[in-house]
Amino acid sequence: MKNIRNFCIIAHIDHGKSTLADRLLEVTKTITPKEMQEQTLDSMDLERERGITIKSKAIQMQHVHNDEAYTLNLIDTPGHVDFAYEVSRSIAACEGALLIVDATQGIQAQTISNLYQAVDHDLTIIPVLNKMDMPNAMPEEVEDQIIDLLGCKRNEIIHASGKTGMGIDAILEAIVENVPPPVGDPEAPLQALIFDSVFNSFRGIIAYFKVVNGEIRKGDFVKFFNTEKEYYADEVGVLGLGLVPRDVMKTGDVGYIISGIKTSKEVKVGDTITHVKRKCAKAIAGFEEVKPMVFAGVYPIDTEDYEDFRVAIEKLQLNDASLTFMPESSAALGFGFRCGFLGLLHMEIVQERLDREYNMDVITTVPNVPYNVYTTRGEKLEVHNPAGLPDGGSIDYVEEPYISAQIITHADYIGNIMNLCLGKRGELVKQHYLTTNRVELVFDMPLAEIVFDFYDKLKSISKGYASFDYHTTGYRPSKLVKLDILLNGENVDALSALTHVNNAYNLGKRMCEKLKELIPRQQFDVAIQAAIGAKIISRETVKALRKDVTAKCYGGDITRKRKLLEKQKKGKKRMKQVGNVEVPQKAFLAVLKLD
Ligand code: GTP
Repeated sequence: MKNIRNFCIIAHIDHGKSTLADRLLEVTKTITPKEMQEQTLDSMDLERERGITIKSKAIQMQHVHNDEAYTLNLIDTPGHVDFAYEVSRSIAACEGALLIVDATQGIQAQTISNLYQAVDHDLTIIPVLNKMDMPNAMPEEVEDQIIDLLGCKRNEIIHASGKTGMGIDAILEAIVENVPPPVGDPEAPLQALIFDSVFNSFRGIIAYFKVVNGEIRKGDFVKFFNTEKEYYADEVGVLGLGLVPRDVMKTGDVGYIISGIKTSKEVKVGDTITHVKRKCAKAIAGFEEVKPMVFAGVYPIDTEDYEDFRVAIEKLQLNDASLTFMPESSAALGFGFRCGFLGLLHMEIVQERLDREYNMDVITTVPNVPYNVYTTRGEKLEVHNPAGLPDGGSIDYVEEPYISAQIITHADYIGNIMNLCLGKRGELVKQHYLTTNRVELVFDMPLAEIVFDFYDKLKSISKGYASFDYHTTGYRPSKLVKLDILLNGENVDALSALTHVNNAYNLGKRMCEKLKELIPRQQFDVAIQAAIGAKIISRETVKALRKDVTAKCYGGDITRKRKLLEKQKKGKKRMKQVGNVEVPQKAFLAVLKLD
């Protein structure tokens, strides 16, 4: 146990975490150059393309320092806010953290939010200034920021480059010398923390854990504390480049268990594994049920694909436990599901995976956050869907989720950011200068306000010089209304949105304007109206086509006509018939793209 080091890498997105991890694997010869593919730890195609780490993984390295052999377990963490809970569990499995800061960018919002979590778990922090090979690196300025944040000494900050390999040996030395070995009682009843799980189509669910106390052997009869499910440990082992089976995993070890678990729902990240016969007294602290915070209706474009779609989404959930879904139907879109996502990025990823891995073309409706509705009869309802809002008379009050939003920016943009956040019903709770020109701003804000176009706006008003992170803080009462959209007098349920009363008029007006742009001209006038209850608050009209463009083909060349029909059919795929109006798919997301 004394020669084990468990550590993670925390960094803001794109600060070079994966590249640096690759160098560590190379230098410790965990991977031969031949096996070395760029960013080995990011195995999903989608991750590679988007350059983000979605699911955290772990890998074991062997390293000799002063003639002693050490086992180093690197636990990779995802960097995006949507996956913050996974970061927190990975951190809980470690004793140390490399804090990587891009020398050209300086400290950003996620650097700080992840660091706070690491400090909360008493991890030893090793500061690393990365990308030192770049000509625009600002080592002194960024060192000042790190010193201010950590209270460390200047000479403790390691200068490194994932590109050239600079500083990698120094990092390995710091891990061995400074990160404490795991503590724990080898004699105590088994307690192992699950920090991740993956789905493998041959082997089922593989759960990753760290043994906090006691030991686990192959064949043991074990219990998952929070789900109360019991399994035989068919296989346990450590994580090399693949799975390496072992007979026993001892206190401090990091590894995997395969135990006939079929779906990811049975394994909860943060849960504790113990023995059935010799049960631990309590679970490892900090377990949370991850709750989806963004909901949207997802519908197959072709209604005949509903069964295939159901199968696809069920399969997808096997390896993505944070995705939830319930059948839902819409007058406009037919049968589909109301899906719950951790955040907007998660929603995009699911949509893309459905398309790529299952060849499913889907329409996603306007997303919304979960609301708590208290009725006059004293009931509490959780509403995930505008259609689920009870009628006005029976509502006592509504609560919406709030977040604490952390923004780090250049001082020049404070004014713009204040305007943006206050306009989004934010309240400033903290303003802290990290250096003379870098500021940390903290706002309390409704989550609903960042679900739409917050990121894009923040980026454009700060010319890209603002980073953002958030965590949810609870629910607060809110004045909410349901905004309906009517096309030629017919209510299009899939376009309804729940919104704060102060935003409703503006949102209705902008939605009508946007839909006017997006709905193509048809053989007749199309009236677009926004309404709250029976009251119409805005109206636009798409004028009828003056002339029938297909008319000239009639009686003409048959192949040409067929071609035109084919083309029309393809075009139709991305259209939905709503009453007598053809609506393009992008119209359903119009509200996300309002200027
Ligand atoms: P996420 O996993 O998405 O959080 O990103 P990451 O932090 O793992 O960053 P990644 O390793 O993917 O690097 C981001 C970009 O920076 C890539 O284009 C890398 O090639 C580049 N990069 C990483 N490290 C260095 C470095 O030391 N020097 C230079 N010049 N470029 C680097």
